This record gives sequence, structure tokens and C-alpha cells, in this order.
Amino acid sequence: MNKKMKVLFVCLGNICRSPAAETIFNHQIKEKSLEDQFEASSAGTSNYHQGDEADSRMRGALSRRGYRCSTRARQFVREDFERFDCIVAMDRKNYQNILQLDPGGEFRQRVHLMTNFSQHFDDDGVPDPYFGGDDGFEHVIDLLEDCCQSLIITLEKENE
Ligand code: 4NP
Repeated sequence: MNKKMKVLFVCLGNICRSPAAETIFNHQIKEKSLEDQFEASSAGTSNYHQGDEADSRMRGALSRRGYRCSTRARQFVREDFERFDCIVAMDRKNYQNILQLDPGGEFRQRVHLMTNFSQHFDDDGVPDPYFGGDDGFEHVIDLLEDCCQSLIITLEKENE
């Protein structure tokens, strides 16, 4: 079997969208008994919330759907290009900020936009729920559940 594939989800603060993506991805991986093949983590392009737990509104929304989110925020660093096989940005701004740390384009092929995997939503980027109401958090979870399902199928094919 191929070595374990490591996936890194990246947003701005690493307290809302990417911790939720990490939690949902790892939950789906466990449900499919694929823990030997894949594992996910997350980071933020900023250091605004370094060391913080995920936003309590996001943890609450995830918990009501049966997920347990226990992340601590950290900033994306250049070394992550080598540590992770697949880097998934939550929106286009995060995507650009990640690629700016790879000016030679060496790791460009590893970097993806999350919503390109969506099957049932037409969002261009996962919307930032931080400054909005509760609906925003629910929508982010709906969207991430959809994206993670299709991302896992894509990665399974690549890992064959
Ligand atoms: P995230 O949301 O990028 O999904 O973690 C945000 C969290 C914090 C801030 C912005 C977005 N902030 O400006 O502090």
C-alpha cells in the first residue's frame, strides 16, 4: 500500500473554516475506515489566533451534528509544502497567499481550492462565517461535508 497521504486545510484565522474541514474530513475518513491511508490537519495564513481553540460558534455547530472539533490554531509556514501532499485553501485569497510563499511554483500542483470539489453547491470559495450570523456556520458545514466527500473520492483514486 502507498504511504499515508497528508492533507492540510487552510483558511485565514484557522479557527472557523479549516478546523471544520479538518474535523469533517477526518470523521468521514474514519467512517470509511481509511485512517491508514489519509490524515488531515489545518492552518491559517494569518497568525491572528495562534494557539486558540476553534471559534465556539463553530465548535457548537459541529457538535450539534455529531462532530468533535479539538484543534489549536497555527500559521501556515513554508515547510508545510513539504510536510503535506495536498494543501486545500478555503477561498481564493487564501489560495493566493499560499502560492505567494512558493514563488518558484515548485509545489503549485499540491495546492487546491476547496470549492472546486463541491458537487451540490456553486459557492466560489467557502464563505468566511466569522463576522456573520449562525446561518453562516451551518452553511459552511453543509458545504464542507459535500466538498470532503468528493475530495476523498479524488484522493482515493490518486492513491491507488
Ligand atoms: P477563518 O475565519 O479564516 O475561517 O478561521 C476567520 C477568523 C478570524 C478572522 C477572520 C476570519 N479575523 O479577522 O480575526
